[in-house]
This record gives sequence, C-alpha cells and structure tokens, in this order.
Amino acid sequence: MKLCIAMVGLPAMGKSTIALKLKEFLVSEGLNTEIFNNGDVRRQTVPESNSPEFYNPKNKEASKIRRKIADINIEKAKNYDGDVVIIDATNVGRPRRKIIEKSFEHVLFIECVNKDEDLIDTSILQKIKHTEFRNDPDAFINFKKRIGYYKKIYNPLKDEKNYIVLDSLNNLILKEKGEVLHYENIRDILVSNWLKNLYLVRHEETFFNQQDRIGGDSKLTKEGINKSKDISKYFEKKEIPFIFTSTKKRTIEMANILASKNTQIIKLPEFDEINSGICEEMSYQEIKTKYPEIYYERKKDKYNFIYPEGESYDTLRLRVAKGLKKAMYIVGDYRDIMIIGHRAVNRVILSHFLYRKKSEVPYIYMPQDKYYHIISTHKKKLLELKEFKQD
Ligand code: F6P
Repeated sequence: MKLCIAMVGLPAMGKSTIALKLKEFLVSEGLNTEIFNNGDVRRQTVPESNSPEFYNPKNKEASKIRRKIADINIEKAKNYDGDVVIIDATNVGRPRRKIIEKSFEHVLFIECVNKDEDLIDTSILQKIKHTEFRNDPDAFINFKKRIGYYKKIYNPLKDEKNYIVLDSLNNLILKEKGEVLHYENIRDILVSNWLKNLYLVRHEETFFNQQDRIGGDSKLTKEGINKSKDISKYFEKKEIPFIFTSTKKRTIEMANILASKNTQIIKLPEFDEINSGICEEMSYQEIKTKYPEIYYERKKDKYNFIYPEGESYDTLRLRVAKGLKKAMYIVGDYRDIMIIGHRAVNRVILSHFLYRKKSEVPYIYMPQDKYYHIISTHKKKLLELKEFKQD
C-alpha cells in the first residue's frame, strides 16, 4: 500500500526541508520513499521559467504549462514502486489537490505556514542563490512577486480528508484531520527539532577578555587571531556550509578566519552577547566597586538577575531561541552548522539541547579552547566537549 504525502504552501515556507526530513526518517524505518519535486521537472523542461509572470494566474499559456509539469510529476510519483512518495510542490489550489486525491488511495497533505516576514526574506535570499536566478539582478523582488501570484490562488486546507497544518518555523501542529499510514511517525518527525551536527564554538581571546571586561565590541587579540587560525586547520576537512555569528566584531572576525570558500557566514543579532546594560564594558572588579548591589544581587540569583537597562539569562533565552529557529530554518536540510557565539549565549544554546536546571545555566563551563559538538535528531542525542585536536 502506497502513501502519498503532498506538501502544501507558498514558496519559502520550508516545505522542501520537511520533505527531506520525512524522507530520511522513513527510509531509516525501512520504507522506500522518494521525493518528487515540481521545481525539478520545471527546471528540466522550461529552463527560462524564473520570471514572475510565469506564475501569474492570468497568464493562461504559463498556467497550462505549470499544470502539465504538475501532471508529469504526479505521474512519476504514481509509477514509483515504493512505500511512500512525497510530492514537493506548492499545491496551493484546491483543484490541484483534488487531482492528487484522485491519483492515490492514501493521501496526507502537509501545509506549511510561517508568518515571520523577516525570516521569509532571509529564506528568499538563500533561494535566489540558485543558478536559475544567476542572471537576474531583481531576483529578490521577482521572487516576492511570484509569492504574490501564488497567494491569489491559495486555498488553505479544509475539505481534504487527511491533513496537517504545520507552523514550520516553530514545529507546531496548528490543525490536523484524519489519519493515514505511518501517521504517528510522520507527526512526531514534524514536531521534532533536527540538528545533524552543530559545532558550538566560543570566540577566541579579545582585548576585553584580557582586561576581564564584559560586553562591548572588542576585536580579537593577536593571540586570538593565531588561535583562530589553528582552529581553522582543525575544521578544514569538515566542510561547514553555514557559520552563524552574532553581530559583534569578535565572532565575525573569527568566522572569517574559519570559513572556507563555500561557507556562508550569517550574522544574527539574536546571538549577541547578554546585554549587561549600565555595566557594559566594565570589568567585574569595577562593577563590584561602583555597583556593589548589582554585583551581589547577581550572585544571589544569576539566572533571573536583570542588569539595569540590560538583560538576564532568562530574557536572553527567548532571544537566543528565536535565533536558533532562524538558523535552522535557514539551513533547511539541517546539515553541519557552526555557531560562533559568546559565553552567556553559548550556555543558553547548550541548555536548549540538553536539559539543565535554570539556576545551573549561567555556570555551564564554556571555555575558549574547546568546543561543544551537538547532535539532536530523532534517533540520536549527543553532546560532547571536544578539543581542537584531530582524533
Ligand atoms: O566576559 C565575556 C562575556 O562574554 C561577557 O561579555 C558577558 O557579560 C559574560 O561573559 C557572561 O558571563 P557571566 O554571565 O558569567 O558574567
């Protein structure tokens, strides 16, 4: 008995990432699974189809071609001799979905929604790196236009027999109806956070570190630069496609040293170090002398203490969680990623994947000469503190 999973949603909603995640899991469960992507068929048959007008529903000629592409893809999926087919396409209109329902006995629709405009824009910027947009200087605007055209024919899932509506940024199921083969597995995969390999690195030594000063935007010292160069040799063979940093010079400087020519460096303000408010750029000794009440109050409850005009670990946690979601959405198929962060930020990231009591989080060991290797998939959870030395 064959199951057809049909993705539904506007472009840049994370459909392909979910499709890949589902395929990998179902295959690991011994189910022969294949993804059938309308975009692949389109690029093969109509290579010049990246103009937004190709998606204008009023463009009768193009609509016909797009329908044909969808039919070819459905036909290919029908002919697949396996257990599960995943149709990765927008499928935003009810008529197309009716055809899918007629073509397979068991169908589950998965609609991906995400309302975070900022993130959608970041995701579009990733998409237009694809070679098909190579010669289009207005690729970003055009891609948004394409989305606009899809919105005109969008019918959310409602009348279909089996479906799941997923908030694809937060891995939350918003609505579900019916039940199909392998439903429990599929549902579980949709809501779980997957991270294949995260290398969590703290930036190397800065001038402020030397002076025991906190916060600020200090650069790496000569020693910090040299150590970063050594670390870059260690990661040389790992081919890391994405390095996320904060917007601070020290993490960006180190990322530039570690990046290979295929690495994308993405700066996220969500990964900026804890804001120590009126204590920014001071040393712990200076804080103790000038603001003893701050110094001692923080010691009493480090997790909840909010620096005047700044943050606490607790508020930082929310900001960092948003950054992590963004990072995972951007990397899509959850490949190897690195985050070069700060002491407090990295503590919070680590506690996101490994449960720690809140009161313990501000004391997690976060050295500059080692890194944490984190794996968090459905089948494997790993957290290892490692040295920058070949095994
Ligand atoms: O000293 C480096 C630093 O990253 C500071 O910028 C930051 O305020 C501090 O560590 C966070 O560590 P703690 O919460 O232990 O003071």
